Amino acid sequence: MWNANNLVQSADAVTVLLAGSIPRLQAWYTALAADARFRVAMQAGDPQDLRSKLVTNPDVLVLDAGIYPGPQPLIEDLTRYHGAAYVLLPMEASREAMDGVAQIPCVKGVYKGEINLVAIAGEMYAAATAQRQARLNAGMEALWNRPQTAGGGQPLGLRVVAVWNQAGGVGKTTVATNLAYEAARRGLPTLLVGMGAPDDLPLILGLKPEPNLNHWRANPTAEGLKLALQKVDTLDVLAGFPDVLSEARAITTPLDAPESIPKLVLTAAYMGYAVIVLDAPPTALASAALAAANTLVLVARPSLEGVMRTVEAYRTVVERLAGEHHIPASGVYVALNRMGGRMSLDEWHKAASALLGRPFPPVVAQIPDEPKVGEAQDGRKLPLNVSEAFARGLKPLADALFSPQGAQAPQNGKKQITLFGVRVTL
Ligand SMILES: Nc1ncnc2c1ncn2[C@@H]1O[C@H](COP(=O)(O)OP(=O)(O)OP(=O)(O)O)[C@@H](O)[C@H]1O
Ligand SMILES: [Mg+2]
Repeated sequence: MWNANNLVQSADAVTVLLAGSIPRLQAWYTALAADARFRVAMQAGDPQDLRSKLVTNPDVLVLDAGIYPGPQPLIEDLTRYHGAAYVLLPMEASREAMDGVAQIPCVKGVYKGEINLVAIAGEMYAAATAQRQARLNAGMEALWNRPQTAGGGQPLGLRVVAVWNQAGGVGKTTVATNLAYEAARRGLPTLLVGMGAPDDLPLILGLKPEPNLNHWRANPTAEGLKLALQKVDTLDVLAGFPDVLSEARAITTPLDAPESIPKLVLTAAYMGYAVIVLDAPPTALASAALAAANTLVLVARPSLEGVMRTVEAYRTVVERLAGEHHIPASGVYVALNRMGGRMSLDEWHKAASALLGRPFPPVVAQIPDEPKVGEAQDGRKLPLNVSEAFARGLKPLADALFSPQGAQAPQNGKKQITLFGVRVTL
């Protein structure tokens, strides 16, 4: 398990405490997770919880005042906080209430209806760093001790990558396992989650079918997750389901249940993982993986059938599941797998764009059809370590997702989505 000193992610990032209802927390968390300047250190769902967590003095507090029964306790709590607070008041709040809250020294912004965290991120960052500087100048020790950035690594926003296609057998598990291994090899604390049933992911990694997702679902806490993990070198792996029955139970689990896939990802994010890779299955459970992800890797075969299946999968995500996930348009990457005598990248991309009726997301990786891949997996070895051609093919995808410049990509394509009834701008 990674400890704080190993965290490459946002070692110097501004710490944020989010307080509000669960859907609001998820939306806000997602809005900040892609921004390497911030680290959402804590969340609170009610005033008492909030009070206990404010003791750690986070740099920024984003608060939905709707969790308070009235203005009095809200004002009392805010007057005791010394960071930078951004407060969302209910729609019915009066002008006087807004002005009253705005006068509390820690309050830097008061909003009604919705806070666009992406739009005010620069302001939040400036306010937090100015306060930190002021504390340093005053010779005060910050209460929150940040670990040093390890090994010269650049800060990187949290990547929750769903590797997916509706089509079976296209190489999702092959790409997910090698991509996650590569992220871990680059020094990023990485968790790989298998979601197959029965899951072949542990098998090809030389791991056991147990412990697995069922163990975590029986104890859906950080402790439970730690106990359910296996390791491949520095990569942490949670194996998928041992049978279709347990997968069926997971499919009927509500997305906000403690043992759901989105909650698993949230737990892992709080544990300090910088990269979480989900090997999303070609079943109904994929929607849970997509709901938890901020990045989608579509693995596609370089054939006309591959074009059809992949355009269909893309449409599922951007049209049919619109509003049920938070993957921005710029967070979609296409990897063509098993390139050989068939379609070229250009032919494939032209056909996909023609079928979609607008430009299809770019193909970032071309992975060759390589007999050593299957041989390596049968021998429980990683193709990445056995085939140079395979490693070369996968590299542009890893660079796009895990290099600091690539990590900024999701912020560029701003997009409004509705998540559990809450509007968020990504
Ligand atoms: N680049 C490649 N070259 C050669 N063989 C490959 C390559 N990628 C994957 N394969 C082989 O294709 C088969 C299917 O791959 P994989 O299990 O990764 O697909 P999948 O999409 O996860 O399938 P499923 O839908 O069943 O989960 C495996 O036998 C694997 O070894
Ligand atoms: Mg698979």
